[in-house]
Amino acid sequence: SFMKESRALKVLLAGPRGFCAGVDRAIRVVEEALRRYGAPVYVRHEIVHNRTVVENLEKKGAIFVEELDEVPQDAHVVFSAHGVPKTVPLEAVRRNLLYLDATCPLVSKVHREAERHFADGGANSRHILMIGHAGHPEVVGTMGQLPSGAVTLIKDADEARTVQPENPDRLAFITQTTLSVDDTAEIVAILRQRFPQIEGPKREDICYATTNRQEAVKRIAPECDLVLVIGSPNSSNSQRLREVAERSGAPRALLIPKLENLEWNALEGVSVLGITAGASAPETLVQEIIEALSERFSLDIEERIVKEEHVTFSLPAPLG
Ligand code: F3S
Repeated sequence: SFMKESRALKVLLAGPRGFCAGVDRAIRVVEEALRRYGAPVYVRHEIVHNRTVVENLEKKGAIFVEELDEVPQDAHVVFSAHGVPKTVPLEAVRRNLLYLDATCPLVSKVHREAERHFADGGANSRHILMIGHAGHPEVVGTMGQLPSGAVTLIKDADEARTVQPENPDRLAFITQTTLSVDDTAEIVAILRQRFPQIEGPKREDICYATTNRQEAVKRIAPECDLVLVIGSPNSSNSQRLREVAERSGAPRALLIPKLENLEWNALEGVSVLGITAGASAPETLVQEIIEALSERFSLDIEERIVKEEHVTFSLPAPLG
């Protein structure tokens, strides 16, 4: 027969993957604002780091801007899930903008930790070391809860080894929520060893969703020839998933935003394919890829769920 048997491909689906409770809530904030107040609703920064999510909301009437000065007088504006420096809501009030804060509650929790350590800036104040990635909006937002100079950014283990705080006995640390669990454990260990008096969370501030998604991809990676991480290149937790996959035994891991970005020759020689998705990537993007795979391969799909998640967050007060 001329019919070619399609090649067998085993797919290992990591679970949990994709949307976390904070992303789900942030999207609902924009949708609910559109429903209540009508279009347009402005959103400062990508509500979550995913182009597909942003484009879908744009179709419904959301307008994305980088800074508040791009928002017209009396408009509604939503702050993204990553959080914002204190100056942003102040500026919104000054400009008479009606703002809704979609900051993930788990990021807000870190903001409050930072404020507690800083106390009033007086004798009880602790200088804060923030473990995180320079320039990421969450880091900018968290550091921006306090006056400049109150927080020092620690980007990696080297900086943890060399930082020279003025008063080593009055220190605290906080972390970005979407870091590599393993890298962060190493950095925290260095800080605790150098500064035994340092205060901080029991382990770090990495959120449940980041932890679970990394654990899930770790579990499948050793069996995979290739792992696809569905997520945007600017999504911190998606980048970490790609790294974790490679470090945990997958010979190769690729971060791709969506099906169109998949180069089919990447699958040559692959007999076991792992798939996961970052916390800001909709499940529809995963299903599109599986659908396309099923047209080319004879698929055997197995989902490996390492943890059930039951976290949900209610909407912020004006919408709740
Ligand atoms: Fe929040 Fe973690 Fe998601 S901090 S937005 S639950 S990745």
